[in-house]
Amino acid sequence: MGEGNRHTVSILESLLDTTEMVKNPVEVFEKYRKKHGSTFKFNFGGLRKTIVTADPDFLEYVLKENNSNYHKSHIQVKRFVEFQGKGLTNSHGDYWLRQRKLLSLGFTRSRLTEMLPLQLQVLQDFMNDFDAEASKGAVNIHHQMVKFTLRSVGKSLFGSQMGNEELERFASTIADIQSFIVKKVVQPYLMPWYAISGQNQKYQEMRIKGDQIVLNYIEKRRAEDTNESDILKLILSTPYKDTGEFMSDETVKVEILQLLVAGNETSTTAATWAFYLLAKHPEHIKKIRNEIETVFAKEEISYKGLHQLSYTLAVLNESIRIRPPFWMIDREALEDDEFNGIKIPAGTTVVPYIYGVHHNNKIWDNPNIFDPSRFENGNEKKMHQFAFIPFGGGPRVCIGQNMAIMQILLVMSSIIRNYDIELADTNRVGLHAMMLLKPDGPIQINFKKINS
Ligand code: HEM
Repeated sequence: MGEGNRHTVSILESLLDTTEMVKNPVEVFEKYRKKHGSTFKFNFGGLRKTIVTADPDFLEYVLKENNSNYHKSHIQVKRFVEFQGKGLTNSHGDYWLRQRKLLSLGFTRSRLTEMLPLQLQVLQDFMNDFDAEASKGAVNIHHQMVKFTLRSVGKSLFGSQMGNEELERFASTIADIQSFIVKKVVQPYLMPWYAISGQNQKYQEMRIKGDQIVLNYIEKRRAEDTNESDILKLILSTPYKDTGEFMSDETVKVEILQLLVAGNETSTTAATWAFYLLAKHPEHIKKIRNEIETVFAKEEISYKGLHQLSYTLAVLNESIRIRPPFWMIDREALEDDEFNGIKIPAGTTVVPYIYGVHHNNKIWDNPNIFDPSRFENGNEKKMHQFAFIPFGGGPRVCIGQNMAIMQILLVMSSIIRNYDIELADTNRVGLHAMMLLKPDGPIQINFKKINS
């Protein structure tokens, strides 16, 4: 059962916090959570009826048990469809299920194993550049992780023929469009300005150009026969089970772009925070390095081996707990509902508050303390399934979570194996929360080669 400790934030309080909400929504939500309990009612911008919850039982109810009554909010879906087209991340019902079934085939354990050689090649290339950068002085870790995850996600999706420069150019167009969509979702009151200033048109034109690049690439890939096991090839060569038909080029384009958007910045953000937190807590580095040496001393890096890096994974999990890239997600109730005495009228926005549940002191002892032992020795198996939900939960749980973990473990283990790390700047790093929870400024880290 839930905690029963739930209250309503007054309309006046919500209105007074509107400016602060734009600047630092996590701080405002944390203030309400501490004052009103794990679940609180609140009016977005003073108007939109919202229930925010950091209660694992309630999260399980919304995301899993009664998930069919909770769709992604229609405003968010509308904005994303406008620029991305309808695909896995912004559809529901039968259409979503059919796409999910087919696309999941790209992320199975055996697929990830097949992808590893290409990932190792990406890693090797990246490490060559990284070594050169690190020898010059402090490194902007976010920039480095952008480079690594873009190549890593990009090549898993598009295959090795997509060159790094092409990928970077293309991804930066997508990223610009993405930030514009997020602005439209987060600051809807600027809507008239987006139209008058010509921004709507500018970004639609950019989208059309980006779409064309992918469509050309799809056409090229259809024509050639390679042995690669990238996701584009899988989608092009796998028919839907129900009808035996293949996805149209238009649908392939939407899905592949959505996967790139969903998988790129999220992993970059997670890896950036992981290095930052490790640099703040260097006492864990030796143990990680010993583990890497034990697992990989004699053998090639393998998918199975990565799964034996249990301490490294515990450190990664703890860093994703403290700094979850998605700090919240959103849902909207389709029909009237009730959970644990809380009335949820149709149309109510329900916010699964990921950062909140990860910092809920009813679940975690000293939640602000970085302590990887929470995820060691089977401790993670004892926790509520919805106490740790960086990848969401229920049927819409992140399709790419194993790929993300594989990529981040690869880059963490390669760097930590060779470098000691130390923050170059000890200024406090704050939170910048839009759709994702990012650092509020650059993080510079000194990487000192060991034994040199
Ligand atoms: C650390 C990295 C990542 C994090 C923290 C993350 C987080 C999430 C979360 C929280 C959701 C659920 C959204 C919701 O229910 O509203 C989600 C969904 C999704 N993620 Fe990830 N993700 C990551 C990496 C990836 C990667 C690498 C890919 C693919 C290349 C990916 C593809 C997707 C897709 C397609 C969905 C939508 C699934 C659906 O609606 O059925 N993600 N992710």
